[in-house]
Amino acid sequence: MKLQDVFNAYNNYIMPTYTKFPLIFVKGKGSRLWDIHGKAYLDFFPGWGVGNLGHCHLKVMSAVRDEISKLIFIPNNYYHIPQAKLAKEIVFWTYPAKVFFCNSGAEANEAAIKFSRKFGTGDRYEIITFENSFHGRTLGALAATGQKKYQDGFSPLPEGFKLVKFNNIEEVKKAINLEKTVAIMLELIQGEGGINVAERDFVLELRKICNEKNLLLIIDEVQTGIGRTGKLFCYQHYGITPDIMTLAKALGGGLPIGVMVVKKEIADTLGPGMHASTFGGGPVICKAALAVLRAIQKEKLLPNAQKMGEYLFLKLEELKNKYPIIKEVRGMGLMVGIELNMEGKIIVEKCQELGLLINCTQDKVLRLMPALNITKKEIDKAISILDSVFSFQLSAVSRQLKAERSLKNY
Ligand SMILES: Cc1ncc(COP(=O)(O)O)c(C=O)c1O
Repeated sequence: MKLQDVFNAYNNYIMPTYTKFPLIFVKGKGSRLWDIHGKAYLDFFPGWGVGNLGHCHLKVMSAVRDEISKLIFIPNNYYHIPQAKLAKEIVFWTYPAKVFFCNSGAEANEAAIKFSRKFGTGDRYEIITFENSFHGRTLGALAATGQKKYQDGFSPLPEGFKLVKFNNIEEVKKAINLEKTVAIMLELIQGEGGINVAERDFVLELRKICNEKNLLLIIDEVQTGIGRTGKLFCYQHYGITPDIMTLAKALGGGLPIGVMVVKKEIADTLGPGMHASTFGGGPVICKAALAVLRAIQKEKLLPNAQKMGEYLFLKLEELKNKYPIIKEVRGMGLMVGIELNMEGKIIVEKCQELGLLINCTQDKVLRLMPALNITKKEIDKAISILDSVFSFQLSAVSRQLKAERSLKNY
């Protein structure tokens, strides 16, 4: 297919639901991506949070190859070994629990919402969620999402969600109705919402309230999970255990997966026929996820994420001291937000021209989530590209100010 034919096919045959950059990628390896012209990019936002091992990790590739030649799919009314192994492995790294397999983050959150309603036995169904949160695009997950821009035009959304301010325990307390409230659902670092980190005391208090009032604490680790913050799961930084955790994105190493992990003592709330997902936990994806979890341990990616995260923060703080365009650097491990005093779109585009892929969320927050196996050399390269882009932007702003001043004097 010629270049223009690819763009034409997208325009003519694919619904325009994504804002796209005109880049066609053909190959990936580690933190590198190559476009159709052979230009190499350093990917500091691999797969929108999917690429915690980078692109095409050898162990994931060989696990998939191995399983695909044996058994591509088997439905959930039979047993297969990769699903049994993956469930055991997830529970080993988390807490005594049972899991439900599905295919995406939204689907895992839908499962958590349905689970909570069943747990509330029809009387209690309300879930408290937070401003600026993001839980997915399906109707239930969308209703839980605390951003109006994603909900506009899709009403009526399912009822039963109460939105309160993030990190504000008094608002949470006020929102609880003992007859109706069944759960509190949150991301410990709001990713799409702008890399907003939950305060430790706030989370500890949420856990305490949930214990006292028999509410479920649902932690959405779709973006923060699988080593992203330097621990395998972000809740482990806070010294709490969720009642329900949802996972997706990086767990599949590039293949689609979603998981709801529910504390063992309540897990049988959902029985046969109450919830299902045809493709959930198929053999190929389970083998891929097992390879991801093993690679994280074997290749010591958690300590690397911690160390490289610290280094990246240090370098970004240096840039912050140099460029007043940067308002704040925040995050945890390798989940990093750079809040700007200006729109970030132009910075993302300029970085792209110079071969660095990053993201911008909430208009002004640059989001960097490099692979957990990122090296110091790769970070230095990314920092030098950001440095040139900020420097260019700074001189553009001062040129503009000068021009405006001389126009005034004229
Ligand atoms: C925290 C969080 N929850 C849920 C989702 C939805 O995941 P998916 O796109 O796999 O449905 C996302 C996606 O970005 C997310 O970041």
